[in-house]
Amino acid sequence: MSYQKSSEVSANEYSKIWFNYWDSGTTRWDMGDVSPALRELIQDKKWELPSGQGIVPGCGRGYDAMFLARPGLRMVGADLSQLAVDAASTIRDSMNIPAEMADFQVMDFFNFDIPASQYQVAYDYTFFCAIHPSMRADWGQRYAQILSPGAHLIALMYPLAKAEEDMERGPPFLVSEDDYHRVLDANFELIHIDPKCQTHKTRVGEEIITVWRRR
Ligand SMILES: C[S@@+](CC[C@H](N)C(=O)[O-])C[C@H]1O[C@@H](n2cnc3c(N)ncnc32)[C@H](O)[C@@H]1O
Repeated sequence: MSYQKSSEVSANEYSKIWFNYWDSGTTRWDMGDVSPALRELIQDKKWELPSGQGIVPGCGRGYDAMFLARPGLRMVGADLSQLAVDAASTIRDSMNIPAEMADFQVMDFFNFDIPASQYQVAYDYTFFCAIHPSMRADWGQRYAQILSPGAHLIALMYPLAKAEEDMERGPPFLVSEDDYHRVLDANFELIHIDPKCQTHKTRVGEEIITVWRRR
């Protein structure tokens, strides 16, 4: 990945970075499996999944959307890149998961038609850190728009900044708990936080799982 100072990149130009990563096959963020923190959250029943419709923005190859999909909960995996959507759909088909249960679509999170029923759950991992920091307020507003009242946003915070690190370099841009509170508190209530959640082996100490309820 090439790194740039956020001040050198405009938000509109920013999405081109992601097309370039996919087009050049540079997907080093891809862990090849469901996030351990998400698996733990659901399997240990620390929080109950709703029924309805859910969304995973910036889904990449879609492992997390496929994990969440189940009878009664239809998941949409959204990504800017057709290559991501094709890869996720191929994996889904190889796992015999019905397409209507885990539907991968080329979508810009910040600009798509919201279904009338909105979404009842969203999962955000390696997406908050993927967008330009200047887009974070829009990110929070957008989740408030697309989630129905009482719906939940599962945000797996990553990569957590340690002291004196450069917050301006990315992607991935470093994050803090405060960064999420700053853009979610107006419309969401934090109902679950687990700083000791399971993580990918290479991301120990860098993740905190949270669940936020749309007011
Ligand atoms: C760091 S990758 C993470 C992918 C996946 N969540 C994972 O953990 O493997 C970020 C993804 O977000 C996608 N993306 C970036 N901006 C987006 C946007 N505005 N709308 C939808 N997807 C976007 C990129 O194409 C990329 O696949």
